[in-house]
Amino acid sequence: MAVIHHENLGLFVLQTAKMDYVIHLSETGRLTHVYWGDRLPYPSDYPPPPQNWVLASQHANWPDMLAELPTLGGLQEVSPLLRTTFADGTRDLRLVCHSYKIAENELSFELKDEFYNLSVTARYQVYPDCNLFKRRLELTNTGPEIIKIEDALSGGAPLSVDRGDNFRLTHLSGAWAAETIVEQTALTGGRKVIEGRQNLTGHAHNPFIAIDVNATENDGEVWFAALEWSGNWRLFVEQIRSPFKLTRLGGGLNDFEFGWQLESGEQFETPWLALGYSSNGFGEMSRNLHRYQRRYVLPENFRQELRPVLYNSWEAVTFNVNEAEQLALAEKAAKLGSEVFVVDDGWFGERHHDRAGLGDWQPNAGKFPNGLNPLIQKVNELGMQFGLWFEPEMVNPDSDLYRAHPDWVYHFPNRPRTESRNQLILNLAKPAVEEFIFNMLDDMLARHNITYVKWDYNRIISEAGWNDAPAGRDREFWVRHVQALYRILDKLRERHPKVLFEGCASGGGRADLGALHHYDHIWTSDNTDPLDRLAIQHGYSLAYAPKTMYCWVTETNHNKANFSLRYRFHSSFMGSLGVGSSLNHFSEAELEEAAKLVAEYKEFRHVVQHGDFYRLTPLGRLEGVLAVQYLSEDRREAVVLAYGYRKHFWQNSTRLQLRDLLPEGIYRVEGELWNESGQHLSGQILMSRGILPKLSQGIDSAVVRLTLETPPA
Ligand code: GLA
Repeated sequence: MAVIHHENLGLFVLQTAKMDYVIHLSETGRLTHVYWGDRLPYPSDYPPPPQNWVLASQHANWPDMLAELPTLGGLQEVSPLLRTTFADGTRDLRLVCHSYKIAENELSFELKDEFYNLSVTARYQVYPDCNLFKRRLELTNTGPEIIKIEDALSGGAPLSVDRGDNFRLTHLSGAWAAETIVEQTALTGGRKVIEGRQNLTGHAHNPFIAIDVNATENDGEVWFAALEWSGNWRLFVEQIRSPFKLTRLGGGLNDFEFGWQLESGEQFETPWLALGYSSNGFGEMSRNLHRYQRRYVLPENFRQELRPVLYNSWEAVTFNVNEAEQLALAEKAAKLGSEVFVVDDGWFGERHHDRAGLGDWQPNAGKFPNGLNPLIQKVNELGMQFGLWFEPEMVNPDSDLYRAHPDWVYHFPNRPRTESRNQLILNLAKPAVEEFIFNMLDDMLARHNITYVKWDYNRIISEAGWNDAPAGRDREFWVRHVQALYRILDKLRERHPKVLFEGCASGGGRADLGALHHYDHIWTSDNTDPLDRLAIQHGYSLAYAPKTMYCWVTETNHNKANFSLRYRFHSSFMGSLGVGSSLNHFSEAELEEAAKLVAEYKEFRHVVQHGDFYRLTPLGRLEGVLAVQYLSEDRREAVVLAYGYRKHFWQNSTRLQLRDLLPEGIYRVEGELWNESGQHLSGQILMSRGILPKLSQGIDSAVVRLTLETPPA
């Protein structure tokens, strides 16, 4: 049972394999948070619901501090989840719970304002095998007058109360070409907000935060929050001393420039916020999140499928795509073992550079005189699927689409329209724009054998205006844009279930749990330098599953290092493999080597993509050696990838203690190792003494594979 109701105690427990989250419902309809941590054996272990206790007139009541759904109303100290304005100007919101429902893994509370016609459902869904739950709020206007929503977060929760001073915040920050870099900082009093407010998830910060107490990769308590949303978001953590130190985290939509008008009978749903707990450090937290994505988040039609090895020509030729040259590349890509051939930007309209063409989604007649079908057919004959790049939400002013519909972009009437990469953003809140994008893609997919769509989004917003919006609704586009995006993707998937969708925003600008409900995977970063990429991929792994992370082998060399082809491939083995190299410049020997590496990856990709993931070297510290392990769910197969990473000359290697093998099973060990290759060793010794990857000086890498030879007796 994932939801347990102890009626005599007034307690509701969201229970997973290892976690309890406990809420108290009082006789007066008040919901209070009671406990969030390790699963406890007896209900009598749960702390008592907080007593009504005012410490000083400068502080809120203790039960209000621990409210499960704090709203702007009454004595305020913690961040409210909801702020509303009623028709008469009242901004004080008092919700009382009058009923609840339990259905399998779901719990919901029905609340109503004491006076005004607003009802709120607080909904929880529990994922017992992932040690997490998600929650959201659903607001309904049950009266005749408009209610304005000023702020609507999805959820928030105190961590266990009064645990001393050692809380630390971990999150993912970065920039274009440097996404998902791990940041850690000690928490002090006050409120810290990590947010995105540029109409996309963003490169600068990712909607995932973790709070820990002295945790390491394998030990210690970690709580996390991750938002399932690809637009403006905010996650917060706050620490209040009143009188016990209270540490709370939460998040949801960003209230920056936000506003929503709830008319009579209308409903508003916040995105889901995933909340989880691990008492076995960051490693288990990541595995819980990865499992959640593999089992429940990713779109169902490809959820169980391995991601294909793809070739994408962007880095090889940029905008210079044409039938003959793409075909020449496709022939080589097929020899490598690519399973999908993706034509990137440059195939449509007058798209010879980034100054024109976005919006005109018809093949350029000079580049593809007979359309795309002849190329697609040949690609298919070569044994590969065909994929195509789109940036559906964008338009270049130099395009037929913009000339026909200049009012379709975000803008303010008497202001310039600031271009970025020479493009403007289409306003998806407008039904005509949503319809145009859906019809365009639906038609393209119907007329071509395209089974892979790369969906890009290449700028941040400016002049965020919707001046011809229905009265009072001009700030709703922040949410409506993302709702329309998700709707389009869902409809396309329904109509074209054989198409895989890759989510991209100048690399990893749209990597979040919301995107992963609608895209099958993410283009992790435009930075394909194999060394830089390790840091990006390492950070990405904190929250997101390796399967969702595409990694290409290219010639990029920002580090001016002597990268071997082997190293480049090994760096890309960390997730789903792609190749973006200029294959025309490859020698026969290089093509042969690359083909062997692709074949090697295919042998173990099921472990990388569907196995459990372990960081074998410390989180966020990229010095010496970076190593990761993948373990099949039945624990019979493992893959270890190790990279020499800015090593000192005397530091040849690092012994790696493997994780979670069957202690009494005997594994055959093969690969690039100083000692153990070819040996048959017990899981126990592989976990306690470990293995020593063979890494020579400088940039080097090693792949090690373990296969269970003899299962435990
Ligand atoms: C973005 C993407 C790249 C490529 C280019 C094409 O930068 O992240 O992979 O598709 O656009 O313009």
